[in-house]
Amino acid sequence: MTVAMSLVSEPVPLEDHVRWFEGVLANPRRHLLIGEAGGIRYGTVRFDEIDDTAEISITVNPEFRGQGIGGKLLNAAAQWAKEELHLGRIIAQIKQDNPASLAIFNKAGYEISAPGEVNSLVKYL
Ligand SMILES: CC(C)(COP(=O)(O)OP(=O)(O)OC[C@H]1O[C@@H](n2cnc3c(N)ncnc32)[C@H](O)[C@@H]1OP(=O)(O)O)[C@@H](O)C(=O)NCCC(=O)NCCS
Repeated sequence: MTVAMSLVSEPVPLEDHVRWFEGVLANPRRHLLIGEAGGIRYGTVRFDEIDDTAEISITVNPEFRGQGIGGKLLNAAAQWAKEELHLGRIIAQIKQDNPASLAIFNKAGYEISAPGEVNSLVKYL
C-alpha cells in the first residue's frame, strides 16, 4: 500500500533502497524524520528543500494507521520544519485515490493548488 501510494508504484529492490537511503543521508537539503514514542517507531516524514519551500512526504507504519498518528506526525513535522529550516511553505504531491492522505493534509490546513490525478497541495507557514 505504501508503494502503491507513492508516485512510483513499483516494488523497490533492497539494494536500490539502501542506495536511496545512503543518498538521503548524504544530501544536506533532504531531511528524514522518524516519529518515535516509547521506543516504537510509528512513521517517517521526509522534507526536500528548494529555496524557502520543501516538499513533504509522510509514511505511517501500516500496523498503526487509522489511529490519528499520521495527522499528529504531519503537524509535528511542519512545526519542526518551520523552526529548524525556516521554511515559508510546504508543498505535497498526493494521488487523488489516496483519501487518507488527502484527509490528513486537508485537516492540517493544506490547500490544493493544482488538482489532478496527482494533486499539488500547499501550506504557507
Ligand atoms: C496517509 C497516511 C500517512 C495516513 O496516516 P494515518 O496514521 O492512517 O492517518 P490518521 O489516522 O491520522 O488519519 C487518517 C484520516 O483519513 C481518513 N480516511 C482513511 N481512509 C479513508 C477513506 N477511504 N476515505 C476517506 N477518509 C479516509 C480517516 O477518517 C482519518 O481522518 P479523520 O481523522 O478526519 O477521521 C498513511 O495512510 C500512510 O502512510 N499511507 C502510505 C503513504 C502515503 O500515502 N503517504 C502520503 C503521500 S505523501
